[in-house]
Amino acid sequence: MNKPLRIALTKGRLEKDTVALFEKLGYDCTSVHEKGRKLILPICDGKIEVILAKAADVITYVEHGVCDMGVVGKDTIMEMQGKFFELVDLGFGRCRFALAGKKGDNFYDGYNVKTIATKYPNVSRAYFEGKGMDVEIVKIEGSVELAPLLELSDAIVDIVETGSTLKENGLEVYEEIAPISARLIVNTVSMKLRQNEIEELIEKIEKEIQKKI
Ligand code: PRP
Repeated sequence: MNKPLRIALTKGRLEKDTVALFEKLGYDCTSVHEKGRKLILPICDGKIEVILAKAADVITYVEHGVCDMGVVGKDTIMEMQGKFFELVDLGFGRCRFALAGKKGDNFYDGYNVKTIATKYPNVSRAYFEGKGMDVEIVKIEGSVELAPLLELSDAIVDIVETGSTLKENGLEVYEEIAPISARLIVNTVSMKLRQNEIEELIEKIEKEIQKKI
């Protein structure tokens, strides 16, 4: 039997949505449901091996070719870039990048250089470069909404899903930056060496996704 096709999934919500998708394709994912603390899990009678990793690491594993494919949010792809094929918009994990800050403040008021707190410095830099606007960027690891509340920054660039975190902290979206959803990415060499298996899987996935539209 061939080596299993190795797929890195972003732990958490995207992992659950991807497993639900695989189950719709008829793949037995019991090993993932019963994973405990295991991080490498065979599914589909050992034909596929699922790896559970953090979003940025999914890209690293796929880029380095130790995983053939990966499921990761467009937010992480936009932030990290990298050399791989982005082949399918999976349609789940939908949210958006937004510029946000304290409710009622006018972000563009005054002439001072604005400070932006974010987990996504590259996305933020590119956004403001696109506007020809000089900003200072402060990298924050989580709960970015704290930064304007504590007056560390004038605004944040972050992902917004339901909008509850902003609302419950007296913040609001100033500008929408980009829509986000989960993407299927493929290592460039795997795409050549295992083209048939990968294309077959992608075809099944696309058919399943179409059903929902
Ligand atoms: C993300 C994001 C926002 C929140 C948005 O944070 O950074 O804080 O979710 O979701 P909402 O619009 O539905 O409220 P996450 O939960 O990943 O945690 P973190 O802030 O610790 O990164």
